[in-house]
Amino acid sequence: MTSKTNVPHLLSPLEKSLFLKNRVVMAPMTRGRAGEKRTPNSLMTEYYAQRTGAGLIVSEGTAISLQGYGWTHSPGIYTSEQIEAWKEIVNAVHAQGTPIFLQLWHTGRASHSSFQPNNQLPIAPSAIKIEGAQAHTLDGKKPYETPRALETEEIPRVIEEYRQAAANAKEAGCDGVEIHGANGYLIDEFLQSKTNQRNDKYGGSIENRYRFLKEVVQAVLTVWDAGSVGVRLSPNGNFNDMGSPDYRDAFTYTVRQLNNYKLAYLHLVDGLAFGFHELGEPMTIAEFRKIYDGVLMGNCGYDRHDAEQAIASGNADLVAFGRLYISNPDLVDRFVNNWELNPDAKMDIWYSAGAEGYIDFSTYKEGS
Ligand SMILES: Cc1cc2nc3c(=O)[nH]c(=O)nc-3n(C[C@H](O)[C@H](O)[C@H](O)COP(=O)(O)O)c2cc1C
Repeated sequence: MTSKTNVPHLLSPLEKSLFLKNRVVMAPMTRGRAGEKRTPNSLMTEYYAQRTGAGLIVSEGTAISLQGYGWTHSPGIYTSEQIEAWKEIVNAVHAQGTPIFLQLWHTGRASHSSFQPNNQLPIAPSAIKIEGAQAHTLDGKKPYETPRALETEEIPRVIEEYRQAAANAKEAGCDGVEIHGANGYLIDEFLQSKTNQRNDKYGGSIENRYRFLKEVVQAVLTVWDAGSVGVRLSPNGNFNDMGSPDYRDAFTYTVRQLNNYKLAYLHLVDGLAFGFHELGEPMTIAEFRKIYDGVLMGNCGYDRHDAEQAIASGNADLVAFGRLYISNPDLVDRFVNNWELNPDAKMDIWYSAGAEGYIDFSTYKEGS
């Protein structure tokens, strides 16, 4: 029925800046399986290959540099060994006809000195630490530290790390990159007044706070076409102690600016299921639809019904699913056939090492 009326739905292809077999996206999810070498392995290859029913896979957050690293056993894309290892995942995903974007991650103040070269402090726009949460270090959870504010002269080097990581992702054969501008990591820390109290050209006005993201996007666009670059933002989130009084103005400005680039997509963590800063009304995807012409991806707390509504209304072109993808490797098949879903996975396996709670969730056919 939907195809006759041409109303897009979750399982219909996307034929815009991206061509995808369906509009179901596997959300970026850190799973902590890359080991102390911070390098992808066959376990990770199997995990991604199991989830290739998605129209698009966005990889777990992947550190762009040694300094950007900040989560135990997460992978990087800054050594030749890591690039080679990512190729195996990319090839396995491509063998099933599915594209994969690598999520470029600099954790900023959410890193920990134990990950940093010479045990230095993590870097951030300003020396303001995360309260009320803990870092995932090799020795377990540790309180966050007060980061060191970047010198203005250092910022081009960090931008260059993004460019290099984007080039490395290309070398690994990825179809594109997603710039992680969400969830209180480095880019978000620059965007938001709560974490950016600089008085140079990267701080103060919203325009100045946006400058860091702008320069990252421009650097990445020297490596990739705009149609292969996505950006992720989280205007409503409080993860990593975020949330700024001027959030609506800041994110409206940012999205208006990003609209000029004709990117592959803008990925919005618009839902509140992962925490809401409660500083006013949440920003909705409908609100962003009015100011963003390109492909919009919604995320956070969506079930199938919400996703269908968001897509049918035109507010979203794509919907990313996170937790549903942990426990349902065949999520798209389950949607296609109206099969019931596996129960949500327990949080204690989200980042645990090994195969258990990672590649051992049954498909519907295996389970029935
Ligand atoms: C285990 C786990 C790891 C995550 N890691 C990342 C990550 O690396 N990068 C990111 O942008 N978001 C990450 N997220 C957030 C998810 O992408 C998504 O926004 C969140 O799960 C909400 O979507 P859902 O309700 O469909 O699960 C993670 C979420 C979970 C559950």
